[in-house]
Amino acid sequence: MATGTNTKVLVVTADPAFAAAVRGTFGASRAIDLAVVEGAVAAQADALDVSDTTVVVVDLDASAPEEMAALARLTGRTGARPPVIAITQAFDANVARVLLQMRVADFLVKPVQPLDLVRACAQASKAPSGGIETTEAKIYTFLPAVGGAGVTTLAVQAAMLLLNARGPRAKTSTCLVDLDFQHGAVADYLDIEPRLNIAEIEPRPDRLDRQLLEIMLSYHDSGLAVVAAPNRPAEMRSFDPDVVTRLLDLVSSHFEYVVFDMPRTWFSWTDSVLLGSNRLFIVSEATVPGLRHAKQLVAAIKERLGEGPKAEVVINRFQQSMFSSGLALKDIEQTIGEAFCSAIPNDYQLVREAIDRGVPLDDVKPGNKITAQLKKLVLEQSAKAADGKPLPLLKKLKLAGAR
Ligand SMILES: Nc1ncnc2c1ncn2[C@@H]1O[C@H](COP(=O)(O)OP(=O)(O)OP(=O)(O)O)[C@@H](O)[C@H]1O
Ligand SMILES: [Mg+2]
Repeated sequence: MATGTNTKVLVVTADPAFAAAVRGTFGASRAIDLAVVEGAVAAQADALDVSDTTVVVVDLDASAPEEMAALARLTGRTGARPPVIAITQAFDANVARVLLQMRVADFLVKPVQPLDLVRACAQASKAPSGGIETTEAKIYTFLPAVGGAGVTTLAVQAAMLLLNARGPRAKTSTCLVDLDFQHGAVADYLDIEPRLNIAEIEPRPDRLDRQLLEIMLSYHDSGLAVVAAPNRPAEMRSFDPDVVTRLLDLVSSHFEYVVFDMPRTWFSWTDSVLLGSNRLFIVSEATVPGLRHAKQLVAAIKERLGEGPKAEVVINRFQQSMFSSGLALKDIEQTIGEAFCSAIPNDYQLVREAIDRGVPLDDVKPGNKITAQLKKLVLEQSAKAADGKPLPLLKKLKLAGAR
């Protein structure tokens, strides 16, 4: 334990026995300054001063929505520092998932052994190794060069791959955001209820906090979080860019991976999404106009983003058959140049079935070629491409925005 500056542990609990146990555990240590706030987190969370705290321990009743909401507000306010450890009454997988998404550093189930609590506090206070990663999300953006190229399909499948990047049992926290507010298809493709209501946030963007975000998220059976709005085909309106950037900022600070499905129209918030991306995929098709549009878009993005992320061209529904009317791989490579990144095979039946069933392609046909190619794209190449890229604009917006 560090000498000099003391470790400051702040405990919120409505349980006198837990308060006494904590005092017994930490009270005697000279290296730890303990503060106990007695009362339910629902009543205490918003007034807590955590500015000088190393670790916050919140003992709550996870079955009470107002308690969970208060905790969400707290973690939304604090971000990764100071880390928050949750103490719950009983283990419940759903609660665990929600806690994970709130980015608590750790959680323990009562009865809590003193040593476990000390260990959890030490782990959580250790920068940045212990607990859940404190880094911003890695952002993968899919942008269409032409209509119907398969942006939504690839965004959905990429999100599924990222969700399972650590294996089937250890899901990452991944959020897929449908930014095609007018003709969004993500919710349909995944067969879930879209819950984003931008009109409700618009008058008061500052109200958009972790709690409100939670209400506007939908969850696919796989565990994938989705932000999608109900379609309003007849409504041609653009939203306040502040609302959109605030939403993106919030999502990117609460998930490990974020995938954006972009519309074809360039909105006032488009630049900031692209700038904030770690990988930027332009999806097109193997036709002459498809390649031309992709090339133009690469150039336009380069001009607008300067030193920002480089666009990578993905040619979807690629068919390498002698008899196909499409272009050969070498023609594509030649036309697109170094921005060319990947060709995703054509398999209409497979994609159709996955969409109809709202499942990943691998569930329909394990080991299929589309998934194999996408894996190379988002998992293997990402290690080098996505690392170390700053998120200039989102970062700036985040610093400017009230938490
Ligand atoms: N690799 C593929 N092989 C075969 N068919 C595909 C493939 N990818 C997508 N499709 C099909 O192409 C069609 C368009 O796909 P999708 O909706 O993903 O495109 P989009 O670019 O999002 O379209 P929009 O411009 O309408 O948003 C769908 O019918 C989908 O099944
Ligand atoms: Mg689409």
